[in-house]
Amino acid sequence: MSSAGAPHPHIRSFSGRRGHFTSGQRQAYETLHERWCLPYRAAPIDPATVFGRSAPLVVEIGFGMGETTARIAAADPARDYLGVEVYPAGVGSLLARIGELGLANVRIVQHDAVDVLRDMIAPATLAGAHVYFPDPWPKKRHHKRRLIQPPFVALLASRLAPGGTLHCATDWEPYALQMLDVLSREPLLANSAGDTSVGETAAQCRGFAPRPAWRPQTKFEARGLRLGHEVRDLVFVRR
Ligand SMILES: C[S@@+](CC[C@H](N)C(=O)[O-])C[C@H]1O[C@@H](n2cnc3c(N)ncnc32)[C@H](O)[C@@H]1O
Repeated sequence: MSSAGAPHPHIRSFSGRRGHFTSGQRQAYETLHERWCLPYRAAPIDPATVFGRSAPLVVEIGFGMGETTARIAAADPARDYLGVEVYPAGVGSLLARIGELGLANVRIVQHDAVDVLRDMIAPATLAGAHVYFPDPWPKKRHHKRRLIQPPFVALLASRLAPGGTLHCATDWEPYALQMLDVLSREPLLANSAGDTSVGETAAQCRGFAPRPAWRPQTKFEARGLRLGHEVRDLVFVRR
């Protein structure tokens, strides 16, 4: 049985720290949650019912404060976006943006993305998946908490429709190297940037993608750039 369907060790990719709501986030959370958030459930959603139309569906995993999600969805009204995040203040922040911008093509699931992909997304249905600046878990003993590892990538790839894209970005060089290695080894995925070659440093590798002009800078990306980190994009296509 493939790792996409088989039980596998559950990656605990987020910390228990929850942070604080601003008053705007709290108000958005209290007033808009029911309208735009889907409860987690152990059965696939029907996107046409959820969004009230048939359109390509893109999932974003770990949207943080949702500024990127909102900008991408606003610029791309022909596609629907399902944001998955566990952080309540981030959910409040994206809800506030949905309200301000009147975004009809965004929904949120506040739950662990591993469960959401496995249980709520039917195989071979997604037009795309975005994983922007996932927690890098820099300490060696925490590397097992990184999301981009073979079992989760196999699950992600299984949920993409043929031709669907998996787009990841990171400013943490060791994680960029891990992403390139893991994504290149997933049999269901092909590197849109051509052949992969993994070296000791990201600069020595082939296979990172040019940053697409439509991907806005995220909060974590801005922080990485301030620290002098280089940002790497990876765009892989489901065979
Ligand atoms: C480093 S932040 C990046 C946020 C945003 N993408 C950005 O670039 O600003 C990673 C986010 O992923 C979320 N996250 C981590 N693991 C998750 C999981 N298994 N399911 C849902 N969200 C997760 C965290 O709560 C956090 O908000």
